[in-house]
Amino acid sequence: MIDIHSHILPNVDDGVQNINDAIKMLQIAVQEGVTTQVITPHIQANRFENNLKELTRLFEMFRITVEAEEIPIKLHLAAEVHIGPQIIQMIETDTLPWLGTWNDQKCFLLELPPNDIPSGTLNLIQWLRTKQITPILVHPERNRAFQKNPAKLQPFLNAGCPIQITSSSILGGFGKQAKQLAIELLTEGKVDLMASDCHNLEYRPPNLGQGINAASKIIGDTQAAKLANAPALKL
Ligand SMILES: [Fe+2]
Repeated sequence: MIDIHSHILPNVDDGVQNINDAIKMLQIAVQEGVTTQVITPHIQANRFENNLKELTRLFEMFRITVEAEEIPIKLHLAAEVHIGPQIIQMIETDTLPWLGTWNDQKCFLLELPPNDIPSGTLNLIQWLRTKQITPILVHPERNRAFQKNPAKLQPFLNAGCPIQITSSSILGGFGKQAKQLAIELLTEGKVDLMASDCHNLEYRPPNLGQGINAASKIIGDTQAAKLANAPALKL
């Protein structure tokens, strides 16, 4: 299984804060059945001012430590990019940490705020699509605007945004509304990916295996397995 979304690089965002916890998180990910862990630090203006160069430097140091621990997991660096004008800047300066390709188009993880859909969001997405870029919309089931009105997700689907839900949502960790919307989206066949978005050992641990098991009960084993190994995605 590939887990495309996690905050395991120590001290770069609100995820793991020390190397010991990071190692433990990866050990748990292996137990959950993850073979490739993508590490996706937040990039958000005025909050998490991370950039590709520094993240790459820290990631390469982290990779050496993980290899010394002989943890049987592949690591890959990308980012969870908050919506904002910095996305255009990063694309123009070729400094956006891509996840890989989705149906042969460059793709990255796009995050919206937790409560609303900022005006201009769809304009940005249309602009990205004209540039042959595919933004993967992360955890819409946790966004209040989508919870109140799931139809607001349709323009994102129409624009060709793959949808990633979070395993804890389906397991109930983000409350009743997030769970309900996650189930609804799964049932309607609108979900392309599931990821752990793990942040720490205590409250947001690696739990992708549990999430995929829960999804299997809703959409069957074959479809659920694709959520953690989407055929359209190449890292
Ligand atoms: Fe995240």
